This record gives sequence, C-alpha cells and structure tokens, in this order.
Amino acid sequence: MTAMQNVSLGAHYAVHLPAPDDFAFWRERARGLIQCDVPPDRVSWIEPGGTGDLFATEGPSRGDKRLPPPPADPRPVRASQRFLTVARSAALHSDPARFGLLYCLLWRLQRNPRIMEDKADPEVRRVEELAKSVRRDAHKMHAFVRFREVTEEDGTPHFVAWFEPDHHIVRAEATFFMRRFANMRWSILTPRGSVHWDGETMREGPPARREDAPGGDPVEVLWRSYYASIFNPARLKVGAMLSEMPKKYWKNLPEADLIPQLIAGAQAREAAMVRAGEREERVRPATLAEVAKGAANCRDCPIADCGTRAVTGEGAQGARLMIVGEQPGDQEDIAGRVFVGPAGQLLDQHLTRAGIDRRAAYVTNAVKHFKFTWKGKHRLHQSPGAKEIDTCRWWLEAERAIVQPRIVLALGASAARGMLGRTVSVSKARGAPIMLDDGAELWVTVHPSYLLRLDGEAQAQQAALFAADLDAVRERLAELAG
Ligand code: URA
Repeated sequence: MTAMQNVSLGAHYAVHLPAPDDFAFWRERARGLIQCDVPPDRVSWIEPGGTGDLFATEGPSRGDKRLPPPPADPRPVRASQRFLTVARSAALHSDPARFGLLYCLLWRLQRNPRIMEDKADPEVRRVEELAKSVRRDAHKMHAFVRFREVTEEDGTPHFVAWFEPDHHIVRAEATFFMRRFANMRWSILTPRGSVHWDGETMREGPPARREDAPGGDPVEVLWRSYYASIFNPARLKVGAMLSEMPKKYWKNLPEADLIPQLIAGAQAREAAMVRAGEREERVRPATLAEVAKGAANCRDCPIADCGTRAVTGEGAQGARLMIVGEQPGDQEDIAGRVFVGPAGQLLDQHLTRAGIDRRAAYVTNAVKHFKFTWKGKHRLHQSPGAKEIDTCRWWLEAERAIVQPRIVLALGASAARGMLGRTVSVSKARGAPIMLDDGAELWVTVHPSYLLRLDGEAQAQQAALFAADLDAVRERLAELAG
C-alpha cells in the first residue's frame, strides 16, 4: 500500500494532545501523519479542553484511534536540528495555533530541508518568535518566583510560590528549581498547573489560584542566598536590568539591597560566572551525536584536560533502560567506549545472568572524562568530586532527555548524584525507585568496581545483592512494558 492510499480522500484528522506541553506526543503523531502524506490543512491539533475543528471527521476521540495506520514502507521523516530545537520551545507557547504551525513547517521541511535558514519566511519567523517568547517567559520564572515559608503539620518547612507564566513552561522549568533548591520541600503554584518537590520526588498538581498560595513576605534568607547564587555581575546592564526588574518592585524584593554588594564583588567572580552563564544559555543538544561532540569540546571543569577524550554513552535512542556508571576508567578512556574494562566485564556478566540485554540499553557515565593520577607508568583512577559530577550533569541530562528511558539504573553514589544533583546513600536508596521529574524511575545500586574490590564472603554477599537489584530492574521493565 502506498502512503497516499492510507489516507481517506478528503478526510480531516484531529489529534488530541494529552497535555498542552507534550512535544514528544506531537512529534510522534506528526511523524506518523507525514509518513501517511497527510497535508497540514487536513489536520487539527487539539489541546485538552480545546474544541478543535468542526470539520474534523476522523479520530475525534482521545487517543485519535482513527488516524491512518503507518504505511508498510514508511519513508524517513526529516527534521533538522534547528527545527527540533526551536520547535521544542515553540511547542510550549500558549498560542493554540502552534502545533499546526509546527506541522506545516515539518511538512515543508520534507521538501526543503533548509527552510529554517530562510529568515524571511513568515512561518519560520513566527515559530522563532514563539520560541523566543517561551525562553523569555522561562527566564522571568527563574527570576521572579518568590517562595513563602509555610509550616506543615509535622513541623517541617515547606516553601510555596505563586507565579503566572504566559506559556506552558511550568513542567519544563520545574527541573531548574529542583536543581537550585534540591534539599527543600517546595511547591510552585500557577494557573496552568502546579509542581511540588519533596526533596526526592517531583509531583504535578492541578492549576491553582492565587489565594491557594500564602501571602506575606517572601522568605528573605532563602531568596537572598538564591539571588546571590544566580546574580551575574559580568552581564550586568543597568538599563536591561530596569526593564527586566522594574525599579518600582525593588523595594519589595528582599534581594535588592544585595545588589551594590554583589557588584562590588563582581571582579573576582566574573570569569566563573561568564562560563556558568554561557552554560545556562547553551542550546541543549538534540541528538546523541551532538552530546558526544559537545562533551568532547567541553572545558567546564579541570578533568576535561585529564584523559584522552570524553567518553559519552552508547546504545539506542529510545532505550527503555539507561545504565549510568561513574566515569570512564583507563581502558574506556583509551577505547573511547563505556564499560569495556574489568568493571564493564563484571557488569556484562551480571546483566547476562539477570536477562537484561545490554545492547538494548543505553549505557553511560555521570562524568565523561577519566580522572586519574599518575603512579609510575600507571594511571590510577580518582573518584570525581561533587562539583565535577554536578558540572557534567548537563551532559547526562541531555543524554536522558534524548533517550527518554523509563528506568535509569545508577551504579554507585556518583551516578546517583549525577542523576539527582544531590548526594544519596546507596544503601538507603537501593531497592525502591525514586521518581524522576519526567516520571522515569531511578533505581540505585552499587558500582561493579565495588564488588571487584571485595573478596571472599563479603564479595559473595554483595554480588548476591547486586544480582537481586538487577532482577528487580528486569522485572520492573517487564511490568512497565506490559
Ligand atoms: N566504571 C564506570 O563507572 N564507567 C565505565 O565506563 C567504566 C568503569
């Protein structure tokens, strides 16, 4: 059957998005529609609560069951990196026409792969504008969320903020606050939905009203330390600052009186801040090849100059399991491949025994460079420090965002820190999954090199526990698949 034969003549297809910010869903449906040659004027993209198009005769129900089945010989769908990067942001805009616009552009990209370079094209311009407006909204959220402290019934402090975003950015930006305030319990309430962090797990909640958030003064101590940590003196432009944070609000902002002090200390912090600022603005890689290239050029921490090369992960994009180790060892650094040395061989044995196919998983490390000291002619492994792990998280998160595993298995404390941005005790964390921001599960166990360092009874005991952890992961994968 050809693609055209798949499409009922004149039919109009309605795609119901499960959430207004579900870019992955849009992407999957858009790909299927392109493969079936459904032109943009025959598709309506309907957000939750949206009414869609009265003329849509096909697939009006949730799950759009009646969309055409993919052809037996689907042709590859082209999407340039530039398109995907811009589309990911634009998809969060509140303009109800955005998904249709993205589909139009994707459709046109099939005929003209360089369309995104045409800055005069009205659709390209519009989608760039949407993406810019979403980035600006995210920036405002980072800058203006103000927490108030409330005390829970059990006496623990909970920090609650009210914010009114213009676009559907809350879920996407929750990770920013999770990283900044990893050790606190906090909630950000917005009219578009709320997010709640309890120090371990991110949960989503329904839209809130301003009255749901506590009034009164923001928590000064917390906010001041946060502001001091994000203030970027290297990029201070008073004019821009006034337009971003109008002076009339300053008197209410607890951090405003810190500004002169921060400017005074600017020189010393400038170099580091410039790097950090560049990192914040860096476009997140959209493919694993881009991660590999970016990590190879990364000089954000001193160990980048240590080994031979950056070693990023291997495995399938779309793998359901991602396995995270600590960092490449001597052999990995030479081969440029993860887990090929003694720890890798032991890991392979355990995976095989547990019935987990390493080739179907994505295997990577928390830190991409080999950290070592010379001892004679030998390079001796050194554990990465928390700062190095935290710096390299950017790449690990990029890998996870691309692969989108359902389960992440962290081998050892460095891997767990790489995933969570905070230290966890492996013995406490193992056995029960931790929910990650996107609903994936993080399972923590020991690193195989720990088993290699033991012997006798202790080794046998720990190997059995490691095997049990892998069994639990295999079973959970099966459950999730079923
Ligand atoms: N140890 C790790 O954590 N990762 C590797 O790739 C090799 C050894």
